[in-house]
Amino acid sequence: KLNSLSGAKRWELIEDTRNETKNDDPNVVGFDESDSESDNEECEPEPQRESESKPEPKPEPPPEPAKAEKQIKKTAERTPAVYVDVIRDKEIQKARLKLPILAEEQQIMEVINENPVVIIAGETGSGKTTQVPQFLYEAGYALKKQIAVTEPRRVAAVAMSRRVAEEMNLSPREVSYLIRFEGNTTDDTKIKFMTDGVLLKEVQNDFLLTKYSVVILDEAHERSVYTDILIGLLSRIVPLRHKRGDPLKLIVMSATLRIEDFTTNGRLFKKAPPVVKVDSRQFPVTVHFDKRTSDDYLKAAFEKAVKVHTKLPEGGILIFLTGQQEVNTLVKKLRKKFPLKVKIDEDIDNKPKKKKRKEVYAPEVNLDDYSVDWDNEACDQDEELSDHDDDEIDATPSVDAQPLWVLPLYSLLPTHKQNEVFKAPPGGCRLCVVSTNVAETSLTIPNIKYVVDCGRSKVKLYDKITGVTSYVVTWTSKASADQRAGRAGRTGPGHCYRLYSSAVFNDTFQNFSVPEIQQKPVDDLFLQMKCMNIDKIVNFPFPTAPDLLQLKTAEHRLEVLEALKEGKATPLGKAVAKFPVLPRFGKMLALSHQQDLLPYTICLVAALSVQEVLLERPLHDAEDKELRVKWASLRRRWAGGGNSLLLGDNMVLLRAVGAAEFANSEGRLERFCRDNGLRAKAVVEIRKLRLQLTNEIKINLPEADAVVDPRLAPPTDLQAKLLRQILLSGMGDQIARKIDDKTKFKYGYQANNMEEPVFLHSSSVLRRTLPEFVIYQEIYETNKIYMRGVTAIEPEWLPTYVPHLCNLSAPLSDPEPFYNPSNGRVYCTVTGSFGAQGWSLPNVQIE
Ligand code: CDP
Ligand code: MG
Repeated sequence: KLNSLSGAKRWELIEDTRNETKNDDPNVVGFDESDSESDNEECEPEPQRESESKPEPKPEPPPEPAKAEKQIKKTAERTPAVYVDVIRDKEIQKARLKLPILAEEQQIMEVINENPVVIIAGETGSGKTTQVPQFLYEAGYALKKQIAVTEPRRVAAVAMSRRVAEEMNLSPREVSYLIRFEGNTTDDTKIKFMTDGVLLKEVQNDFLLTKYSVVILDEAHERSVYTDILIGLLSRIVPLRHKRGDPLKLIVMSATLRIEDFTTNGRLFKKAPPVVKVDSRQFPVTVHFDKRTSDDYLKAAFEKAVKVHTKLPEGGILIFLTGQQEVNTLVKKLRKKFPLKVKIDEDIDNKPKKKKRKEVYAPEVNLDDYSVDWDNEACDQDEELSDHDDDEIDATPSVDAQPLWVLPLYSLLPTHKQNEVFKAPPGGCRLCVVSTNVAETSLTIPNIKYVVDCGRSKVKLYDKITGVTSYVVTWTSKASADQRAGRAGRTGPGHCYRLYSSAVFNDTFQNFSVPEIQQKPVDDLFLQMKCMNIDKIVNFPFPTAPDLLQLKTAEHRLEVLEALKEGKATPLGKAVAKFPVLPRFGKMLALSHQQDLLPYTICLVAALSVQEVLLERPLHDAEDKELRVKWASLRRRWAGGGNSLLLGDNMVLLRAVGAAEFANSEGRLERFCRDNGLRAKAVVEIRKLRLQLTNEIKINLPEADAVVDPRLAPPTDLQAKLLRQILLSGMGDQIARKIDDKTKFKYGYQANNMEEPVFLHSSSVLRRTLPEFVIYQEIYETNKIYMRGVTAIEPEWLPTYVPHLCNLSAPLSDPEPFYNPSNGRVYCTVTGSFGAQGWSLPNVQIE
């Protein structure tokens, strides 16, 4: 064994084998060198110098020379050779040996040693996450450099690092984790678990990832945006590292779902990487559909759990719900129903006669006991509004039933509480875990025999206009439902109770979930990738590419916004990318931050993300003329009275929401909304989004003016003007100019980038004043083409806020440039034209 070799000898051994692998076959990179080079040019950021120094290995005790020589011979014959000893506890080793993946260690390591990229596919629970890093460690991959393992979910990164450390008898200093706000990595770290977002950040600082010898992308089937981008990047990094004579291995691990996306995609890997299929011991699971599909799945889940616990033989229960609040509610109800105040007998010193009676209580679920985290986990974001009525569930304690050990599981649960699910329940109770979909493939909970599946999950939804994310509960896919069912068959035959009918499953469920990258707005994705120094994004080897035409349009829009220049992210672009909204709104937020107007713009972005805030007419009596007049005058008042300079539909929206929040603080939201033609649910939704946006912004901009009070005083005249300029800065590509022909084109405008005329709708407050230049939020078509969300702007703002679309003359000598003492700046007058229509801009002043 290698332990008996001297430190120096041991290093030689490693070097030898590595060189062999390298020299064996120059084409092991996965695709042709020549091709890969041209690809590299297409999409690659400039490699940067190594920044990190690698940890030095600890010297080993000197061995007896004779034995060492014998070992060298033996190792040379055998590939792969096991180099590093791990001393495991007997119990752990026994459990490991039950995993079929252990029998395949030799084969897996051979494929890894001989190929730069390997895909390992196997059912959840087969041991990929916990065992493969250990195989690599034992084969010497952590001697010089670290082994990286990425997880899309932070729960998995933390839990798996602990588990692997425990199995290997190593400390958290050596098997560590790093997630966005937390971590325990050290200079001694050998195996590092992290979220995929964290590794992506590291690529930005050290493109060749020089501190790692292997990168394992785990849970690739989840298709998180970050993992997808990492696969694309690593497909180029691996050959580069090979060329430098410092090979990096890439291992993609996945449940057995849609592996073709990684293998048959010629852009990604020219030569399809080998796929190692890991066997798993899966017992049959009987699936039971409900006859009826109840909307109140929380109640249905409660009733099913009660039935299973009171009527069926022993075995753990795993319940899938969609979010943390639901999980906590059900946990409380079940604990109340099956109280744990049981006396259990505990052995003391293994002497059966001396027994101590002990009372065991379930650990408390404390709703305040989690910190806000904005890693890319859709499913566990807190939902303030719940459609479930808790009181519907009758959780009167059951007198004669056995106690139930009920535990919650979701990603924001503190780590020590997450770990509870892996421990045996006290006193031989039945275990019941209520979980979000983190237990679907990321974590395998031991001894589950019954699965209760609500069939839904919470997914991120991006608003098409603003890019603001919200979370909606939708049906999962067939693939997910089968994964969930599979959790019941790990240790023996099991049962899965689906809280929906087979008709819903067959007719409504999609086969697979759509990869996140194809749901995310492309403008945002484009800018984010540019900020990672990825050059030609249209040529980037995505496992599944977003729409290419849309990517091209996005690039153009970003140039107009000045977020990109000559294909690179500008400093403004980098600031814009920090906001969790579409770049045009990110730019508005960035400028508002400079002008101390952030709360207003946040409110506006949130309001624009919600449909139908202002109703066309007061709801309760559309025919009442008096009311209609009152409502119209209210709109005008919010728009800034008769002063046309303040006018704009977005200003109405802003003021309406602000006013509604004042009414809400006095407890009369409903009435206020009814009287003023606002939708009360929309106001509540906007409040939620404002809070979410404010929190997200605070994370990237801790100094931001983060007002939590939803009440918003109406902007002053000056603020309103600044806000209109800020709106222009984000929407300079959506400008329209009034058409002078009043007979043919009443209320008609010519949009900058459209042939056909567009019109002001009768609901727009600007119908009375008809400003010369406007910007609009959106175009929609009914009998005519209308603009929505229209704001008046001044032509002289164009050179300052949309310079990209202006064509200006040299400064005119008459009048002379002038100095403005109030701001210390010099202005001069120019003439020019604007945009595709060549609108003339006579005598505008520029700084
Ligand atoms: O990654 P994959 O889904 O293939 O499996 P894994 O997460 O490596 O889990 C392998 C086995 O280890 C499962 O049977 C788990 O139940 C077990 N395990 C455990 O007992 N305790 C943990 N903290 C983690 C995993
Ligand atoms: Mg796993």
